[in-house]
Amino acid sequence: MQKIMAQSGVASRRKCEEIICEGRVKVNGRVITEPGCKVDSDKDVIEVDGNIIKKIDEKIYILLNKPVGYITSVKDQFGRPTVLDLLNGIKGRVYPVGRLDYDTEGLLILSNDGELTYKITHPKHNIKKTYRALIQGKVKKDDIEAFEKGIAIEDYVTAPAKMEVVRYSKGNSIVDIIIHEGRNRQVRKMCSAIGHEVIRLKRTKIGEIGLRGLKSGKWRYLNDIEIGYLKKQVAPKKEE
Ligand code: URA
Repeated sequence: MQKIMAQSGVASRRKCEEIICEGRVKVNGRVITEPGCKVDSDKDVIEVDGNIIKKIDEKIYILLNKPVGYITSVKDQFGRPTVLDLLNGIKGRVYPVGRLDYDTEGLLILSNDGELTYKITHPKHNIKKTYRALIQGKVKKDDIEAFEKGIAIEDYVTAPAKMEVVRYSKGNSIVDIIIHEGRNRQVRKMCSAIGHEVIRLKRTKIGEIGLRGLKSGKWRYLNDIEIGYLKKQVAPKKEE
């Protein structure tokens, strides 16, 4: 009981215990005086001094190294595994922040913070995303320039993007690609448009947040610095 009260910002846990003992708390209309009393913050109506307290949901931010063969949505009409199948032991529901294709692997953020999710995925914030790709053929200077200029795909021209050759491998190229947009299958379409089909694609970073050795299929919580960083990326810019 006192934990829920404290989480809702009533007072410290210790102080909440006192408030309960003083008979100032009601659960479903009945006064309770036992601090340890079990309540369900989803179902029970809790009042302190006659005011109903609101549950403040704990925000969860998760970073997953998505393997190939999982879809980035909550449910799949074809019954394929979803990224949520990889998250065990998490209290509460989280949703993918943006998406990765079924056949793309790498860094995916999931959260129950709807506001941050909305802002991060909004095109105006342009957060950079870094991919490591194995693509067919040998990348040339012209290809890199095409990425910088913007590439016409379907009905739009991509914003300036970066491509850097990491190394060549058996007639193919391993490249790092940075884009700021997040359109459907954008990296695959950009590479294909300049004649280099993607063989393998992995997202390695969102902004400055990386996988830091997290193995494929594993997840971890984002730390406070990473959460703060993400929030800063989408915060309204102050006038100089
Ligand atoms: N670009 C792609 O083509 N696929 C992804 O999953 C992400 C970016």
